[in-house]
This record gives sequence, structure tokens and C-alpha cells, in this order.
Amino acid sequence: MKKKNVRKEMSSIKTEKNKEIIILGIESSCDDTSAAIIKNRTILSNVVASQKVHEEYGGVVPELASRAHQQNIIPVVDLAIKRAGILKKDISAVAFTRGPGLLGSLLVGTSFAKGFSLASGIPLIEVNHLQGHVLALFIKEKDKEYNPPQFPFLCLLVSGGNSQIILVRDYLDMEVIGQTIDDAAGEAFDKCAKVMGLPYPGGPHVDRLAKLGNPDRFEFSKPRIPNLDYSFSGLKTNFLYFLRDNLKEEPDFIEKNQEDLCASLQKTIIDILLAKLKKAAKQTGIKEITVAGGVSANSGLRNALQESAEKYHWNLQIPKFEYTMDNAAMIAITGYFKFLNKEFVGQNVVPFARTQL
Ligand code: KG4
Repeated sequence: MKKKNVRKEMSSIKTEKNKEIIILGIESSCDDTSAAIIKNRTILSNVVASQKVHEEYGGVVPELASRAHQQNIIPVVDLAIKRAGILKKDISAVAFTRGPGLLGSLLVGTSFAKGFSLASGIPLIEVNHLQGHVLALFIKEKDKEYNPPQFPFLCLLVSGGNSQIILVRDYLDMEVIGQTIDDAAGEAFDKCAKVMGLPYPGGPHVDRLAKLGNPDRFEFSKPRIPNLDYSFSGLKTNFLYFLRDNLKEEPDFIEKNQEDLCASLQKTIIDILLAKLKKAAKQTGIKEITVAGGVSANSGLRNALQESAEKYHWNLQIPKFEYTMDNAAMIAITGYFKFLNKEFVGQNVVPFARTQL
């Protein structure tokens, strides 16, 4: 995003202050079908249908995800419009996740949004899922205090598919200054949980069990990667081999030590995440710090961020739990800023499985 465009967008925010802009957001990048309605920055509804079908496979099965999206999308959009208390004709534009994500899943949301835009004669707005995660911090809730972050700020984006540090200069002006060179933090949680026999997605289970365990009991490897990048594949392998070796000696090693294993694993992931975030804050001199993505629901990470905020005098913003996971509210708010910037796309738009910010 060029600076020039952002300035234009900022000024249009001022001039369109009193105009009612209603955006329908659609999210279908992975295994959650979601639709949301936003009026200016205020959320009116956010409906998420999570797909249970993947649980028995221990991970998302792309073809099943795509089929479930097809079944869910119309009822989910219908409910979002009803809960918002608006009519279809009130919607100013439809915003959808174009990528990154699973192609078959993205195709469902993209096709639906295109059809909705065509049938209603309203603009179509494509949204980068990662940008959506960051802009979720700007969602306003009716009659609640509103304290969005101030620009520039750093956002630690940690989800099932991404681990990045993003320098956010403006609503639509973002730069990735550090990212994982292999697996994401969420993947490390989920894969390590899987080898311990925990259900998918494992992150919340590790979080729950970690609260009961000793985080200093076991030590796992931390990557030595230069600059602000991350790596989690080494930790995953280290954890797997550690279990394999101990299981040889003690077949019930996991059951006996599950809580300490979870606590030690979680501590290692948090230490890795925080080390680079602290480095980024120091390098940029930015003290406005935010977090986004599914892993930001982790209670250990939240506590560690709070501690660092006190120590380093950061102004820390953590989004509401509901907006950290995959959801369409974040797509709708991004759509709102793009609407003000008149960033629309045509019917020839196609989804992308992999995209950069
Ligand atoms: O952003 P998100 O909803 O979507 C994807 O990236 O697909 O993130 C999902 C990830 C999963 O890896 C899940 O295990 C992780 O977020 N997650 C957690 C917690 N809640 C969700 N990881 C650790 N602790 C949690 N409490």
C-alpha cells in the first residue's frame, strides 16, 4: 500500500464521518464459515459456524472444509443480516477474504461475495486475511469504551498458519518486519498436542493443561535465527524425539507428565515469540504493541505480554477473544476502510492460497 493512498483514505475517513456505511464481511479461508455486519466501525453482528467434521481427522481436511462452507454460507449470512437488524438493501458493499488460506475454502466465500455484489448492485472488496487480523483491533462495540491503537504500532500476529511481526503505519499501510521461515506458532502448539494424543486443535488444550504444570520442568530447543524471523520446526522435532526417547524407558511417560510437558512447551513457544517482539520494539523504538490471531487467546502469552508491557512501558492492546480467532468482523472492518479508500475489485477477481500483506 503506497503512502499516497493512505493519506487519501485518512482524509476520506474524516469527510465521511456522518455517512452510514454498512459492510457485509465474509470469511471462509480455513474451517470457519463466518459473516458479519459492520456499520461504520461498529459491529452489528458476527456469526461464526465452526466445522466439527475435522475433529476426528486431527487436522483440517481441505475438501471437507470446502463442502461444509457450501452448506453453511447462506444460513450464516442470513443470520448475520437478521441479527444486525438491517435489510439486504441497506448494505453498502460486500467484503470477502481473498487469501491466504485453503483454495477450495476461499473459492466458496469469493464466489458467494461475487454473486451477492452482482445481485445487489453493490461494490465488491477483497481483503487480505492477515490485514483483517490486524484491523480487528479497530472494531467498535456499541456502548463500550473504544481505545484502538495509535499509529505506528507493532502487531504480533500469531495463528495456525502465520507468525509475524507487523509494523503498522496506518490502516492500510503495513509491513512485515519478521516472520516464520517454516512453521507457525499455532502449528507448533497443534502438532505437539497431537503427538501427546490431545484433540485438534491442540492449542487450547495445551493452554488448559499448562496452567496445572511446571513450566521449568523440561527444556526444549530454541532456534537461533538472525533478525526478527521465527522458526518453530526445530522445536516440533525436538519435542517429538524427546517424547520418543522417554517413551522407550517409560511407556506411560506422557500420561504421567502431561501437565509439565504442556507448561514447558508453552513456555518455550512464548519465550521464542517474546524475544523477537522485544527486539522489534527496541529496534523500531515503538512502544505501542498489539497482538492478533488465534494463538493470542493463549493465557500464558497474554500474561507474558502484560509482564513485558509493565517492564518496558509498552501500551499493550489485546483484542477481544471473539475477534482474535478467524471471524468475518475483521473482514468487514477492513472492508470499511477499503470502502472509504474506494478500493473495489471486479467480477474477475480470484482467490489466492498464498499472499503477502
Ligand atoms: O487465527 P486462527 O483462528 O486461524 C488459523 O490460523 O487457522 O488460529 C488458530 C490457531 C490454532 O493453531 C489453535 O490451536 C490456536 O490458534 N489457538 C491457541 C489457543 N486458542 C487457539 N493456541 C494456544 N493457546 C490457545 N488458548
